Amino acid sequence: MRMVDLICKKRDGHELTDEEIRFWISEYVKDSVPDYQSSAMNMAILFRGMNKREIATLTDAMEHSGTVIDLSAIEGIKVDKHSTGGVGDKTTLVLAPMVAAVGAKVAKMSGRGLGHTGGTLDKLESIPGLSISKSEQEMINQVNKIGLAVIGQTRSLVPADKKLYALRDVTGTVESIPLIASSVMSKKLASGTDAILLDVTVGNGAFMKNLETARELSKTMVEIGKSLNRDTKAIISDMNEPLGLAVGNSLEVKEAIMSLHGNGPDDLMELCYSAGSIMLTQAKLCKNRDEARKKLEEVIKNGEAFNKFLLMVKEQGGDISYIEHPEKFEISKNIIEIKSKQSGYVKKCEALDIGVSAMKLGAGRETIEDIIDMSAGIILNKKVGSYVNIGDTLCTVYTNKDNVDDVLKDIENAYEITKEKIEPIKVIKEVIE
Ligand code: URA
Repeated sequence: MRMVDLICKKRDGHELTDEEIRFWISEYVKDSVPDYQSSAMNMAILFRGMNKREIATLTDAMEHSGTVIDLSAIEGIKVDKHSTGGVGDKTTLVLAPMVAAVGAKVAKMSGRGLGHTGGTLDKLESIPGLSISKSEQEMINQVNKIGLAVIGQTRSLVPADKKLYALRDVTGTVESIPLIASSVMSKKLASGTDAILLDVTVGNGAFMKNLETARELSKTMVEIGKSLNRDTKAIISDMNEPLGLAVGNSLEVKEAIMSLHGNGPDDLMELCYSAGSIMLTQAKLCKNRDEARKKLEEVIKNGEAFNKFLLMVKEQGGDISYIEHPEKFEISKNIIEIKSKQSGYVKKCEALDIGVSAMKLGAGRETIEDIIDMSAGIILNKKVGSYVNIGDTLCTVYTNKDNVDDVLKDIENAYEITKEKIEPIKVIKEVIE
């Protein structure tokens, strides 16, 4: 079999056989297929698409390109959630302790941020001392002890995705439903969880820009999961504006701590309650979503969700005094307020512009080698639907960089103010099951 023939076949709009897909992935992981041929194949798939069988085979080939984790040593139904990426998305930091506090078993492997989207691992690492590196056995032991672990993917988990994702990121081939679906689902399946809740973001700050494509991606992933006997559901959530108010690593951890104390922003809490209710019914710990929501509200009120987060930080070597006293987190040397030049309602606070700006302030990486400034970022004082007067603060910028005038201009331009009344954005668009 020659790789160039497979590329031409897909380029011309034909289906690939299972054998051909498996050949590509196995040879690519062994470095026998070079990056330039995989790039060409990714581009052919982006333009020509794949049918259900091809996507299922690609997912399976990727899942088995490395270690597949066995979580059977953890008693009970293991639940996991995965977001397709967003700005200000600290959901895992709040949601995972909430569901674990009700009794769910969460063995979660998270990723790092790249480009305008943040990553849970970077956020967690802003807590001094916290380690996200654990072996499979250490993760299992931690979940058996406290019900919860959030760690980095081990090197051997889905090596095909590590290579392919890095390539897609720099070749304009991220935004493809077959490629996103196989990337996400191969990792979720390989990480051994029983039930999967996908958070598919939609909007200008997400990979899926409109509801139709978000729906198609959700349905594709839910079908893959179900066909392999994993209870898989998807929430489609808004990513036209950032989630919550904080964007940037330690700023988001502080917002997560506030949320676990019951003082979280409405959109973030709504997403956590909705996602958590689904996860608890998937874990068969609650009969229905109403009962689950009540339990989640209870563990926020009685402090058990916060305690679960504290325990996790402690188990992973983090300094819990930062969780108990979040004012200890280092604050950037420059704090700049961006004021509104108009009065009216906020119509837009574009997630993409805010995410890119936060990255330029030091909160994210442009390339995988970049070092993150954990204290950098943006706090939104106003979001879509807020009323502002001239001179009100739209948002507050935190950075250790000087000469950021261009970035401040971009942040100001991320906002659009109008005279007509605007309603806040509803964070949950749909549930696909
Ligand atoms: N998240 C992933 O893990 N993979 C993708 O391809 C896109 C988002």
